[in-house]
Amino acid sequence: MKQQNKGKNTNTKNGDGIIVLKNVIKKFSAKIVLENISLAIEKGKTTVVIGPSGCGKTVLIKHLILLLRPTSGEVYFKGQRIDNLNEGQLNQIRTHYGFLFQGGALFDSLSVTENITFPIRQHCEIPDWNQVGELVKSKLAMVGLDGFQNYYPANLSGGQRKRVALARAIALNPEVILYDEPTTGLDPIRSDVINELILKLQRELNVTSVVVTHDMTSAYKVADRIIMLHKGKIIADGDADFIRNHPHPIVQHFIKGQVSDDDLAVLRMSGTMSQAQFLPRDFEQDL
Ligand SMILES: Nc1ncnc2c1ncn2[C@@H]1O[C@H](COP(=O)(O)OP(=O)(O)O)[C@@H](O)[C@H]1O
Ligand SMILES: [Mg+2]
Repeated sequence: MKQQNKGKNTNTKNGDGIIVLKNVIKKFSAKIVLENISLAIEKGKTTVVIGPSGCGKTVLIKHLILLLRPTSGEVYFKGQRIDNLNEGQLNQIRTHYGFLFQGGALFDSLSVTENITFPIRQHCEIPDWNQVGELVKSKLAMVGLDGFQNYYPANLSGGQRKRVALARAIALNPEVILYDEPTTGLDPIRSDVINELILKLQRELNVTSVVVTHDMTSAYKVADRIIMLHKGKIIADGDADFIRNHPHPIVQHFIKGQVSDDDLAVLRMSGTMSQAQFLPRDFEQDL
């Protein structure tokens, strides 16, 4: 179908990319979560992945860094095939990535400095500890938290903890930063601080960013390109205007936060929903 809407379709399926997925299928037992995804992540750009809960966003982003291996298909980093590497080789590749994952908690028993230097201690043989203090200072300054070196996570707010985790993610000067739901659980102001940081890191460090979110305010703010996943497939791929004006009803329902006709039919069939049908764990992610 020819797209008539405004905005740019940035689909680069077969183009070059710093990370490329080719025909990636991911199954868990018989359940297909990713159905033949081909995607090139463009260097230096911010690609945002949107879609409803459970549609496979986290599974997709984990394939970019091989925290999950595809059932079939291929993954490339800078032209090198990486899905067939062993864990040792992958750890080397992963030093080029920083990631801020859902629940990617700080170590509670470690200070801010110790948390940030954790990847350095893991990956560098003999770090020069004189330089490490300077490095921690510069990474904390980048996220607006210089001076918090000796704090412990328990003494930080949710937003500050995310920013320390981000300082840790950039400790090894990554070329790619992966963010999984970075604003979930934060109020709008703290969310916007994270959005500004994503933009700042891309600008100042010239990194490639991939952001998974269901927060459209955040998506529109940070994205050069937005990809929508639905039932294991990419159903929309373009810049913010392209997505805003996308004719697909599922895209429109999602971006406007509306319940789809299919979901409404299910709700009507099951009658009025009582509060008791929600379990505390339904909200756990947002705490
Ligand atoms: N390790 C796993 N084993 C089995 N199923 C999984 C696993 N990880 C994810 N899934 C399933 O894959 C689907 C997509 O999950 P996920 O990528 O976490 O969704 P989301 O879009 O909310 O991030 C869900 O149905 C989830 O239950
Ligand atoms: Mg997820």
